[in-house]
Amino acid sequence: MRYTKRNDVVFDPFVGSGTTAYEAESLSRHFIGVDIQPELIKHIKSNVDNKNYFAELVAGDSTDKNTFSNITEILNRKKKKNIQLAILHPPYANIIKFSNHEKDLSNTKSLRDFLNGFSLVISNTLDLLEKNRYLTIVIGDKYTQGKWIPLGFYCLNEAQKLGLTLKSIIIKNMEGNRAKQNKEAIWKYRALSSDYYIFKHEYILIFKN
Ligand SMILES: C[S@@+](CC[C@H](N)C(=O)[O-])C[C@H]1O[C@@H](n2cnc3c(N)ncnc32)[C@H](O)[C@@H]1O
Repeated sequence: MRYTKRNDVVFDPFVGSGTTAYEAESLSRHFIGVDIQPELIKHIKSNVDNKNYFAELVAGDSTDKNTFSNITEILNRKKKKNIQLAILHPPYANIIKFSNHEKDLSNTKSLRDFLNGFSLVISNTLDLLEKNRYLTIVIGDKYTQGKWIPLGFYCLNEAQKLGLTLKSIIIKNMEGNRAKQNKEAIWKYRALSSDYYIFKHEYILIFKN
């Protein structure tokens, strides 16, 4: 609502189970989404209503320029020049493995490989984003082998290296989140025993093109 108008095109290169697709539909925005898992794309296609506002779903690798040629073709077909908002919710590096696909960013072997892949996705997305519009990143941190890895800050840095201007950092409170429900005690135990603070946050980083 804040960053788009009716009929604008929202783009999500990590569409997953389709939250952005359904929200775009209910807010009267057109939508294009990509995911590396074809079965997720099929599922969203069969659930989203694209009568008044188009919802185009593409199975592909968002680090790959060829995937973006398909998206340019879709935009041409729909008589649109650009996208007006991009929402990027990548895997949090390798915390959760999403698929066996070798280009799945959750299968990257190192933090550097993850950030290089993520940077390619931002760069491909920027080729489509209208000037003076917004790109947002939803990301959490990770904790591994006794170290806090500030993925949020690293991703922020990748976006800034590509020339994006940071406009806001929203800290999302994850307490009571469905994925963590009933697991508070175990998270508290892990945090205390490894001397870190309990994860309760996720970032929404907002950039202007
Ligand atoms: C954190 S989830 C996105 C969740 C999504 N916001 C939702 O509503 O479910 C990350 C997604 O990125 C996808 N993914 C990972 N690497 C990818 C790549 N190279 N290209 C496209 N999608 C990728 C995964 O399959 C996964 O569905």
